[in-house]
Amino acid sequence: MEKREELYAGKAKSVYTTDDPDLLVMHFRNDTSAFDGKKREQLDRKGAVNNQFNAFIMSKLREAGIPTHMERQLSVDESLVKRLQMIPVECVVRNIAAGSICRRLGIQEGTELSPPTYELFLKDDALGDPMINESHALSFAWATEAQLERMKELTFMANDVLRKLFLDGGMLLVDFKLEFGVFHGEVLLADEFSPDGCRLWDKETREKLDKDRFRQDLGNVVESYEQVGRRLGMTFSYQ
Ligand code: ADP
Ligand code: TMP
Ligand code: ASP
Repeated sequence: MEKREELYAGKAKSVYTTDDPDLLVMHFRNDTSAFDGKKREQLDRKGAVNNQFNAFIMSKLREAGIPTHMERQLSVDESLVKRLQMIPVECVVRNIAAGSICRRLGIQEGTELSPPTYELFLKDDALGDPMINESHALSFAWATEAQLERMKELTFMANDVLRKLFLDGGMLLVDFKLEFGVFHGEVLLADEFSPDGCRLWDKETREKLDKDRFRQDLGNVVESYEQVGRRLGMTFSYQ
């Protein structure tokens, strides 16, 4: 497999074409952003940590029957993935209220949500990733009814698997965001699952261990991501 030109540079990852039209190299950079790119910083080791964290979680999800874009980890900060037609809709499950739902609905942070809520957001930084519903996705042809149904099913499957995985490591999976794409007609889980796109709290102290440390200037951002990984039994390499 030969890496060719850069196809797309996002806020935290760059994507490269390869000699195989069906495969892309995803490079996890140290760039860290929040608030739709308004806050940005470079954090040492973050690319490597998120790449390895994502590879670990994607393999757990695949074992649980969730089809993903992951082919294999290539290096400390690169992975080979299937090239998908991305669906511009972000799927969010919340087990505990935090972040935008607290602001939008006046809910107190930490309120348990039972059953968990499921929300959709349009992936559009210029618009601030607005919340949308299934009707919007259908009217604007961002996804079909069958795709929306499958995305919801896979997102809840991921919630079941990951809630338990993190709880076994003494952590609460507060919420998370997933992105999906289409590969030869099949909906696959894409992008990444890392502490950049979810909220994780220590089960006992409720200390924040995810990107809220960056958003809220709490410090020790990457150190917390590493601690989360180690609590799941991971070891990280940096070169
Ligand atoms: P953002 O676009 O939010 O700034 P990133 O910096 O993480 O995000 O960039 C990664 C980009 O690659 C995103 O636009 C994401 O939707 C896209 N992407 C993720 N997985 C795949 C895939 N398997 N095929 C094609 N594009 C993908
Ligand atoms: P929110 O509280 O800001 O709506 O985010 C809910 C969860 O989804 C949180 O873990 C962050 C994640 N998320 C992203 O990573 N990127 C996004 O663009 C959105 C809308 C949410
Ligand atoms: N992932 C988005 C960004 O990088 C939103 C966020 O994390 O606050 O801006």
